[in-house]
Amino acid sequence: MKKSNYVNVKEMNFDQLFKQISPAEICDNVFTLVGKNFVITAGKEDHYNSMTCSGGGLGLLFRKPTTWCTLRSDRYTLEIIQKKQKYTLSYFPNEYKEQILFLGSKSGRDSEKMKEVELTRVQTPSGDMSFKEARLIIECKLTAITTANPNDFCTQEAKDYLNEAYKEASDYRKHVFGEVTHVWVKK
Ligand SMILES: Cc1cc2nc3c(=O)[nH]c(=O)nc-3n(C[C@H](O)[C@H](O)[C@H](O)COP(=O)(O)O)c2cc1C
Repeated sequence: MKKSNYVNVKEMNFDQLFKQISPAEICDNVFTLVGKNFVITAGKEDHYNSMTCSGGGLGLLFRKPTTWCTLRSDRYTLEIIQKKQKYTLSYFPNEYKEQILFLGSKSGRDSEKMKEVELTRVQTPSGDMSFKEARLIIECKLTAITTANPNDFCTQEAKDYLNEAYKEASDYRKHVFGEVTHVWVKK
């Protein structure tokens, strides 16, 4: 959808904007999908929070279509994921880059960033939160949160990175795995 339709997007409802596809029908290259313009959102309409994410992947885990991301343990979004056990990954056209970066600039724990961000919230039919401006939404059910342990990594580079990063428990990196429950793309 073009930017010229931006106003219309705000006025349209979820069904008008998105259609459901299966995980196998996602046609993006995974390496171009992750790493840019990608937001994780957890919570319900009355209280939700989003953060920018730069890493992760999509694939099969124990035969289930699954996404994974690496989050620092102090992320407020992670706290809500743990509480609600559900979340969305939202991917945006490049024109929303500024807003995506804004969601990564401060924590929702001690700011009003969800009120300030210039994106239009939308609830999926299953009650998860995303944004009308997204071009692809992946809804996930939490499968596992594991802690990246430097001793489990085989390359010196990964060990060094984690050992250097792990100054405090709040710096620990958590791998968040979620089973894909629904996939939505812009109509
Ligand atoms: C481009 C970009 C990519 C980011 N990628 C990650 C990431 O992969 N994992 C992570 O924990 N934080 C990442 N961050 C930082 C969080 O988005 C940021 O700390 C955010 O304020 C956390 O919000 P929250 O505390 O409201 O959840 C990224 C930030 C930016 C700007």
